[in-house]
Amino acid sequence: MSNPAMSAEMKQRVLDKTWFYDFELPDGSHTRRYEDGALDLIHDTRLRMLDQALGKQWPGGISGRSALDIACHQGYFSVQLARRGFAQVTAVDARADHVADVELITSAIGESRVRAQQCDVHALSTDAVGGPFDLVLCFGLLYHLENPIGALRRAREMCSGLCVVETQVVPNLSGNVDWGSYRYVKPLMGSFGIIDETYETHGMEASVTGICLAPSTEGLIWIMEKVGFKDVTLLPCPDDGYEQLRFGKRVMVSGRI
Ligand SMILES: C[S@@+](CC[C@H](N)C(=O)[O-])C[C@H]1O[C@@H](n2cnc3c(N)ncnc32)[C@H](O)[C@@H]1O
Repeated sequence: MSNPAMSAEMKQRVLDKTWFYDFELPDGSHTRRYEDGALDLIHDTRLRMLDQALGKQWPGGISGRSALDIACHQGYFSVQLARRGFAQVTAVDARADHVADVELITSAIGESRVRAQQCDVHALSTDAVGGPFDLVLCFGLLYHLENPIGALRRAREMCSGLCVVETQVVPNLSGNVDWGSYRYVKPLMGSFGIIDETYETHGMEASVTGICLAPSTEGLIWIMEKVGFKDVTLLPCPDDGYEQLRFGKRVMVSGRI
Protein backbone atom coordinates (compact mmCIF):
# COMPACT_ATOMS: atom_id res chain seq x y z
CA MET A 1 0.00 0.00 0.00
CA SER A 2 1.53 3.35 -0.91
CA ASN A 3 1.29 6.27 1.45
CA PRO A 4 3.16 9.31 0.24
CA ALA A 5 2.09 11.01 3.49
CA MET A 6 4.44 8.85 5.56
CA SER A 7 7.18 11.26 6.52
CA ALA A 8 10.72 10.19 7.33
CA GLU A 9 10.06 11.23 10.93
CA MET A 10 6.95 9.05 11.15
CA LYS A 11 8.77 6.10 9.63
CA GLN A 12 11.56 6.50 12.15
CA ARG A 13 9.07 6.56 15.05
CA VAL A 14 7.58 3.29 13.82
CA LEU A 15 10.94 1.63 13.26
CA ASP A 16 12.29 2.76 16.64
CA LYS A 17 9.61 0.79 18.47
CA THR A 18 9.32 -2.93 19.16
CA TRP A 19 5.82 -4.02 18.19
CA PHE A 20 3.57 -6.94 19.13
CA TYR A 21 2.72 -7.40 15.45
CA ASP A 22 4.23 -7.46 12.00
CA PHE A 23 3.17 -4.35 10.09
CA GLU A 24 4.52 -3.72 6.61
CA LEU A 25 5.24 -0.08 5.87
CA PRO A 26 4.63 1.49 2.46
CA ASP A 27 8.34 1.21 1.56
CA GLY A 28 8.33 -2.55 2.26
CA SER A 29 10.07 -2.37 5.62
CA HIS A 30 8.60 -4.27 8.58
CA THR A 31 8.14 -3.44 12.21
CA ARG A 32 10.60 -4.97 14.67
CA ARG A 33 8.74 -7.44 16.89
CA TYR A 34 8.90 -8.98 20.36
CA GLU A 35 11.18 -12.01 20.44
CA ASP A 36 12.23 -11.41 16.83
CA GLY A 37 8.80 -12.32 15.51
CA ALA A 38 8.31 -15.53 17.51
CA LEU A 39 4.69 -14.50 18.10
CA ASP A 40 3.86 -14.01 14.42
CA LEU A 41 2.42 -17.53 14.14
CA ILE A 42 -0.23 -16.98 16.77
CA HIS A 43 -1.45 -13.83 15.00
CA ASP A 44 -1.30 -15.50 11.59
CA THR A 45 -3.25 -18.56 12.83
CA ARG A 46 -5.93 -16.40 14.38
CA LEU A 47 -6.24 -14.38 11.20
CA ARG A 48 -6.74 -17.52 9.13
CA MET A 49 -9.36 -18.81 11.56
CA LEU A 50 -11.11 -15.44 11.49
CA ASP A 51 -11.08 -15.39 7.68
CA GLN A 52 -12.90 -18.72 7.62
CA ALA A 53 -15.58 -17.38 9.96
CA LEU A 54 -15.99 -14.20 7.90
CA GLY A 55 -16.32 -16.19 4.68
CA LYS A 56 -19.00 -18.36 6.23
CA GLN A 57 -20.97 -15.45 7.69
CA TRP A 58 -20.75 -13.20 4.62
CA PRO A 59 -20.18 -15.39 1.54
CA GLY A 60 -21.05 -12.42 -0.68
CA GLY A 61 -18.24 -10.32 0.80
CA ILE A 62 -17.87 -7.87 3.62
CA SER A 63 -17.43 -4.60 1.83
CA GLY A 64 -19.22 -1.72 3.47
CA ARG A 65 -19.67 -3.43 6.84
CA SER A 66 -18.64 -2.12 10.24
CA ALA A 67 -16.49 -3.78 12.89
CA LEU A 68 -15.54 -3.24 16.51
CA ASP A 69 -12.17 -4.60 17.66
CA ILE A 70 -12.32 -4.86 21.47
CA ALA A 71 -8.90 -4.79 23.18
CA CYS A 72 -7.31 -3.89 19.86
CA HIS A 73 -3.75 -3.48 21.24
CA GLN A 74 -1.77 -1.89 18.35
CA GLY A 75 -4.60 -2.44 15.89
CA TYR A 76 -3.30 -5.39 13.90
CA PHE A 77 -6.68 -7.09 13.50
CA SER A 78 -8.40 -3.76 12.88
CA VAL A 79 -6.04 -3.04 10.00
CA GLN A 80 -6.59 -6.54 8.61
CA LEU A 81 -10.36 -6.08 8.75
CA ALA A 82 -10.13 -2.75 6.91
CA ARG A 83 -7.98 -4.39 4.24
CA ARG A 84 -10.58 -7.13 3.83
CA GLY A 85 -13.23 -4.53 3.00
CA PHE A 86 -14.77 -3.37 6.25
CA ALA A 87 -15.74 0.25 5.63
CA GLN A 88 -15.24 1.37 9.18
CA VAL A 89 -13.40 -0.32 12.03
CA THR A 90 -13.56 1.02 15.56
CA ALA A 91 -10.54 -0.12 17.57
CA VAL A 92 -10.83 0.20 21.34
CA ASP A 93 -8.43 -0.60 24.15
CA ALA A 94 -8.20 0.27 27.84
CA ARG A 95 -4.61 1.47 27.41
CA ALA A 96 -3.93 4.94 26.00
CA ASP A 97 -0.50 3.81 24.75
CA HIS A 98 -2.14 1.31 22.44
CA VAL A 99 -4.54 3.91 21.07
CA ALA A 100 -1.53 6.13 20.29
CA ASP A 101 0.19 3.20 18.56
CA VAL A 102 -2.91 2.47 16.45
CA GLU A 103 -2.97 6.11 15.42
CA LEU A 104 0.74 6.04 14.55
CA ILE A 105 0.64 2.85 12.53
CA THR A 106 -2.58 3.65 10.66
CA SER A 107 -1.16 7.06 9.72
CA ALA A 108 2.10 5.46 8.61
CA ILE A 109 0.40 2.92 6.38
CA GLY A 110 -2.33 5.29 5.21
CA GLU A 111 -5.25 3.31 6.66
CA SER A 112 -8.04 5.80 7.30
CA ARG A 113 -10.85 3.30 7.88
CA VAL A 114 -9.59 2.45 11.38
CA ARG A 115 -10.59 4.79 14.19
CA ALA A 116 -8.98 4.24 17.60
CA GLN A 117 -10.54 5.12 20.92
CA GLN A 118 -9.57 4.47 24.53
CA CYS A 119 -12.37 2.51 26.18
CA ASP A 120 -12.53 -0.24 28.77
CA VAL A 121 -14.59 -3.21 27.59
CA HIS A 122 -16.95 -2.73 30.50
CA ALA A 123 -17.65 0.87 29.44
CA LEU A 124 -18.66 -0.07 25.91
CA SER A 125 -22.03 1.25 24.77
CA THR A 126 -23.43 2.64 21.55
CA ASP A 127 -23.34 6.09 23.18
CA ALA A 128 -19.62 5.68 23.95
CA VAL A 129 -18.33 4.23 20.67
CA GLY A 130 -21.20 4.06 18.16
CA GLY A 131 -22.55 0.89 16.64
CA PRO A 132 -23.97 -1.69 16.91
CA PHE A 133 -21.42 -3.28 14.60
CA ASP A 134 -21.76 -6.04 12.00
CA LEU A 135 -18.69 -7.73 13.44
CA VAL A 136 -17.38 -7.66 16.99
CA LEU A 137 -13.93 -9.11 17.71
CA CYS A 138 -12.86 -9.95 21.21
CA PHE A 139 -9.41 -11.50 20.86
CA GLY A 140 -6.98 -12.17 23.68
CA LEU A 141 -9.02 -10.35 26.30
CA LEU A 142 -11.41 -12.49 28.36
CA TYR A 143 -8.71 -14.23 30.39
CA HIS A 144 -7.34 -10.86 31.54
CA LEU A 145 -10.64 -9.83 33.10
CA GLU A 146 -12.26 -10.24 36.50
CA ASN A 147 -15.69 -9.93 34.90
CA PRO A 148 -15.53 -11.90 31.64
CA ILE A 149 -19.28 -12.52 31.62
CA GLY A 150 -19.95 -8.78 31.83
CA ALA A 151 -17.54 -8.30 28.92
CA LEU A 152 -19.42 -10.88 26.86
CA ARG A 153 -22.67 -9.05 27.64
CA ARG A 154 -21.09 -5.83 26.32
CA ALA A 155 -19.90 -7.68 23.20
CA ARG A 156 -23.44 -8.98 22.64
CA GLU A 157 -24.92 -5.49 23.06
CA MET A 158 -22.45 -4.02 20.54
CA CYS A 159 -23.03 -6.73 17.92
CA SER A 160 -25.62 -6.86 15.15
CA GLY A 161 -24.14 -9.72 13.12
CA LEU A 162 -21.21 -11.91 14.13
CA CYS A 163 -19.07 -11.94 17.25
CA VAL A 164 -15.77 -13.82 17.33
CA VAL A 165 -14.13 -14.44 20.70
CA GLU A 166 -10.62 -15.81 21.08
CA THR A 167 -9.22 -16.69 24.48
CA GLN A 168 -6.87 -18.77 26.53
CA VAL A 169 -8.92 -21.46 28.29
CA VAL A 170 -8.48 -23.64 31.38
CA PRO A 171 -9.34 -27.32 31.82
CA ASN A 172 -13.03 -27.96 32.32
CA LEU A 173 -14.59 -29.34 35.48
CA SER A 174 -17.81 -31.26 35.08
CA GLY A 175 -20.07 -33.17 37.43
CA ASN A 176 -22.86 -32.46 39.88
CA VAL A 177 -22.75 -30.29 42.98
CA ASP A 178 -25.09 -30.37 45.93
CA TRP A 179 -26.92 -27.06 45.87
CA GLY A 180 -27.86 -26.47 49.49
CA SER A 181 -28.67 -30.13 50.09
CA TYR A 182 -27.91 -33.56 48.65
CA ARG A 183 -31.56 -33.61 47.59
CA TYR A 184 -31.03 -30.70 45.20
CA VAL A 185 -28.21 -31.19 42.75
CA LYS A 186 -26.98 -28.97 39.95
CA PRO A 187 -24.68 -29.89 37.05
CA LEU A 188 -21.60 -27.74 36.42
CA MET A 189 -21.93 -25.95 33.08
CA GLY A 190 -18.24 -25.08 32.87
CA SER A 191 -15.52 -23.60 35.00
CA PHE A 192 -13.23 -20.64 35.48
CA GLY A 193 -9.60 -20.64 36.57
CA ILE A 194 -8.38 -17.80 38.78
CA ILE A 195 -5.12 -16.38 37.44
CA ASP A 196 -2.92 -13.84 39.21
CA GLU A 197 -1.74 -10.92 37.10
CA THR A 198 -1.66 -8.51 40.04
CA TYR A 199 2.09 -7.99 39.59
CA GLU A 200 1.85 -7.59 35.82
CA THR A 201 -0.70 -4.83 35.35
CA HIS A 202 2.08 -2.62 33.96
CA GLY A 203 2.48 -5.13 31.09
CA MET A 204 1.05 -3.98 27.80
CA GLU A 205 -0.69 -7.30 27.12
CA ALA A 206 -1.96 -7.88 30.64
CA SER A 207 -5.01 -7.24 32.77
CA VAL A 208 -5.63 -3.71 33.98
CA THR A 209 -6.92 -4.92 37.38
CA GLY A 210 -4.80 -8.04 37.97
CA ILE A 211 -7.47 -10.56 39.01
CA CYS A 212 -8.30 -12.77 36.05
CA LEU A 213 -10.94 -15.41 35.41
CA ALA A 214 -10.11 -17.66 32.48
CA PRO A 215 -13.03 -19.78 31.23
CA SER A 216 -13.10 -23.39 30.14
CA THR A 217 -14.20 -23.97 26.55
CA GLU A 218 -17.45 -25.57 27.71
CA GLY A 219 -18.10 -22.65 30.05
CA LEU A 220 -17.39 -20.07 27.35
CA ILE A 221 -19.78 -21.70 24.90
CA TRP A 222 -22.52 -22.01 27.51
CA ILE A 223 -22.12 -18.35 28.60
CA MET A 224 -22.12 -17.06 25.02
CA GLU A 225 -25.43 -18.82 24.45
CA LYS A 226 -26.84 -17.47 27.72
CA VAL A 227 -25.93 -13.84 26.95
CA GLY A 228 -27.82 -14.10 23.67
CA PHE A 229 -25.62 -15.45 20.87
CA LYS A 230 -27.03 -18.07 18.48
CA ASP A 231 -25.21 -20.78 16.57
CA VAL A 232 -22.26 -20.64 18.97
CA THR A 233 -19.49 -22.55 17.23
CA LEU A 234 -15.97 -23.64 18.12
CA LEU A 235 -13.88 -22.69 15.09
CA PRO A 236 -11.37 -25.17 13.64
CA CYS A 237 -7.64 -24.50 13.76
CA PRO A 238 -5.54 -25.33 10.68
CA ASP A 239 -3.20 -28.31 11.09
CA ASP A 240 -0.16 -26.07 10.82
CA GLY A 241 -1.58 -23.46 13.20
CA TYR A 242 -0.15 -22.19 16.48
CA GLU A 243 0.18 -25.07 18.98
CA GLN A 244 -2.08 -23.58 21.67
CA LEU A 245 -4.94 -23.23 19.21
CA ARG A 246 -4.28 -26.65 17.68
CA PHE A 247 -4.47 -28.37 21.05
CA GLY A 248 -7.43 -26.42 22.40
CA LYS A 249 -5.50 -24.50 25.05
CA ARG A 250 -6.71 -21.34 23.36
CA VAL A 251 -9.95 -21.35 21.41
CA MET A 252 -11.83 -19.21 18.94
CA VAL A 253 -15.61 -19.27 19.19
CA SER A 254 -18.16 -17.45 17.05
CA GLY A 255 -21.72 -16.48 17.86
CA ARG A 256 -24.39 -14.86 15.74
CA ILE A 257 -27.23 -12.49 16.48
C1 LIG B 1 -3.13 -10.15 25.12
S1 LIG B 1 -3.52 -8.55 24.52
C2 LIG B 1 -4.54 -9.00 23.12
C3 LIG B 1 -4.52 -7.94 22.05
C4 LIG B 1 -5.25 -8.29 20.75
N1 LIG B 1 -6.68 -8.28 20.91
C5 LIG B 1 -4.81 -9.62 20.24
O1 LIG B 1 -5.52 -10.60 20.43
O2 LIG B 1 -3.70 -9.69 19.64
C6 LIG B 1 -4.72 -7.99 25.70
C7 LIG B 1 -5.24 -6.59 25.40
O3 LIG B 1 -6.35 -6.32 26.24
C8 LIG B 1 -6.28 -4.98 26.67
N2 LIG B 1 -7.11 -4.89 27.86
C9 LIG B 1 -6.87 -5.42 29.09
N3 LIG B 1 -7.91 -5.18 29.92
C10 LIG B 1 -8.83 -4.49 29.19
C11 LIG B 1 -10.10 -3.95 29.50
N4 LIG B 1 -10.65 -4.06 30.71
N5 LIG B 1 -10.78 -3.32 28.51
C12 LIG B 1 -10.24 -3.19 27.27
N6 LIG B 1 -9.02 -3.66 26.94
C13 LIG B 1 -8.32 -4.30 27.88
C14 LIG B 1 -4.80 -4.76 26.88
O4 LIG B 1 -4.46 -3.40 26.95
C15 LIG B 1 -4.23 -5.48 25.66
O5 LIG B 1 -4.18 -4.64 24.53
